[in-house]
This record gives sequence, C-alpha cells and structure tokens, in this order.
Amino acid sequence: MNTNQSGRARGPGGGRALFVRGILLTAGAALLTGCQSNQFITLGDMASAYNREIFWMSVWAIAFSIIIFVGVSYALFATVRRFREENNSAEPAQFHGNNRLEVVLVAVPVLIVIVLSVLTVRSMARLNPTPENATVVSALSRQFWWNFSYPSATAAAGGVVTNGNEMVMPTRNPVAVTITSGDVMHAFWAPNLGGQRNATPGTEKTWQIDTDRPGVYQGNCSLLCGASHANMRFKVIALEPERYNTFLRVAAEYRAPTPAPGSAEERGYQLFMQGKPSTGALACAACHRVQGTPANGAAGPDLSFFGTRRTLGAGMWEGAEAERMLIPWLANSPGVKPGSLMPPYNGATYKVNGQVQKGGVLTEQELSDIAAYLRSLRLPEEADYWRDSPVIGSAGDAAPRGGTQ
Ligand code: CUA
Repeated sequence: MNTNQSGRARGPGGGRALFVRGILLTAGAALLTGCQSNQFITLGDMASAYNREIFWMSVWAIAFSIIIFVGVSYALFATVRRFREENNSAEPAQFHGNNRLEVVLVAVPVLIVIVLSVLTVRSMARLNPTPENATVVSALSRQFWWNFSYPSATAAAGGVVTNGNEMVMPTRNPVAVTITSGDVMHAFWAPNLGGQRNATPGTEKTWQIDTDRPGVYQGNCSLLCGASHANMRFKVIALEPERYNTFLRVAAEYRAPTPAPGSAEERGYQLFMQGKPSTGALACAACHRVQGTPANGAAGPDLSFFGTRRTLGAGMWEGAEAERMLIPWLANSPGVKPGSLMPPYNGATYKVNGQVQKGGVLTEQELSDIAAYLRSLRLPEEADYWRDSPVIGSAGDAAPRGGTQ
C-alpha cells in the first residue's frame, strides 16, 4: 500500500469532514434515541448510499451558507467601521436610483437560490429513480403494525412470503420498498437506511433504501397516526445477498409445522383456528395468516414466522421482554398497547369503531397453549435472519440476549 497516498487522503480536509460527520452523528443519536427501544437510530449512517448523498449535499449547502454568512458579516462590520459618524461628519451620499447596486442586490440572491436548487435537484435525480435490478419489498402499514411481503417469492403453500413487523433485505443492493397503508396515513422511516416516505391509503409509493452493512436496524412510523403511533415500530434486518436469497427460498418453501396430537401446540392450534365460541373468544385465524395453514386473515400482522421473530407488538417489546409479554399481550392486547384492535381474551372490554364490546374468555392454560403454538412457527435454522446479526446502534452492537421466542 502506498502510505504516502493514504497520508494525503487523511489530510486536513479529511479531518474536517470527519469532524462535521461526528457532529451530525452525535446530534442525530442524541435527538433520535427511542426511549424504550434498545437501539440508536442515526441520520448520518454512511453505510447507506442515500445518507451519503444527503450528507455531501448538506456539506456543500452548509459550506455555501458559511461563505455567505462570513461575507455578509464582513460587509456589515466594514460598513459600520468605515461610516462611523466620527469619521464622516458630512451628510451621507444618497444612492437612490443606483441601477448597478439594484442589479447586484437582485442577482446575488437569485444566484444563491439557483445554486441550492441545483444541489437539491441533482440529489433528487440520483436518489429517486429505482434501478431495474432492485429487490422489491411491499410494506403495508396499519394501525399499529406492518406487513412486509416479497412479491417475487410465491409461497409453495399459497400467497407470497410475508412477515409482520420484521423486514429482511439484502445488503449491497438497492431495495425498492413499495409503501401503502390499509387505514390512515403512516410513514416508513428507517433512518440508517435512508429517508422517510409517507404511507397513504389507496396509493403505492416506492422508496429506495440500501446499506453496505449487515445487521438489525430500527424503524419507526414517523407520521402521527393514532394512540399507538409511537408503538408502531419495525426492524429491518439486512443480510449478505447470499444469506438473503437463502432466507427467501426457505421462507417460500416453508409450511407451518403440524403439531403433534395431544401437545400444547396442538391445543393452541385448535384455539388459533377456531377460537372458543362458547365464551365468545374469536379465532386468531380470522385476522392473521399463517403460511401453510387455513389461517388466511389479513386484518392483523402475518404470523407465519412468529417463532423466529424477536419483537412483539410491532417492536414495542424486544428479546426477553417480548418473551415475557406474550401471555399478557394475548390476554389483553388493548390493555398493554393503546389502540390495539386485537380483542382481549381475558374478558376485558375493548372498543370497536367507538363501540364498547366485551372480549371473549380463554383460561391461562389456553393462552399458554396458543403461545406454545405461536412459538412453534419457526423458520428452519438457515433462514433465521436474527442469527449472528449485529444490532446496529445498540451498546456493543450485540444481538439482544434471551430472545428465544
Ligand atoms: Cu403509524 Cu404513526
């Protein structure tokens, strides 16, 4: 390696860029830390081409602004100094009708606006077109959760591969996220991977994100959408392209396991599919899909790979906490997550379209059977996207411990 050249590359200019970047990263981390999430999110993650583009556009715009600021300040102080009263006892010269001055005063701001516009339009032209070879992921947002589906991956058991609240993407490839909403407006925002895009009912908008670095990234809904807006989170897990392809292939072949007769999973499966009509407990299958079973509901998040996931309640709980909260969640979802539309199963009341209703009743044992069935919905080991994935922005960038659900 030519050390001379590398010495030059790390010259004073590089140091300044690093300094600016450091400030942006620190400010971003300080401002945007989620209170409950274990993860930092930053606007200045340079592993994403989107963030690099925005960073360098900002550097140019800020540099330009500094030049203007220094110029204007200099002119101001020079004028004050030069035209102090003690130096100029005569009446000041009048410049009304000075055409040259007026032309300059109009031309300079126009020039500034043109330069800033060129910078902005140039970045938009680079970021907005989605390349033909982009990996397409469809993001459906609802109050208050996400479904991420892969239109190119038709499941052997029917439908397309879909995962609730945890999105998987390849690294070093542009990813076109097609974003829509099933109810009110939401917004897709995973700052380490790119900017934010509104999710609007009835329209699909495509947003390009990317990263060079494998790992788990934090995402949030970023448009106020109701009681649990702040609890409408998601994870994006970026895998090396080969591992991503394995995930997609295995997920497409996946069929939910058939529980052994007489097991807790089997009892849970029956309750999941049929509910318990005698107590008014609705079937989970009415609202949730599980690939390879008759459960094909679309009103709630897809549960096909629930056992592989490490978050619960759209990222409200993670790891060991998600594990601990599963039964309380099943017992009374709206009780632990404001605005959740899932009915409680402990007899508590809940609201549907403003009407107070009484939830069905399941026993502790029955809830635990459903939990056992949900935990059994695991992708095979080679498709477990959490395995060895560093959690970006967490202390030590290590995967959360105890996440076994
Ligand atoms: Cu969905 Cu805020």
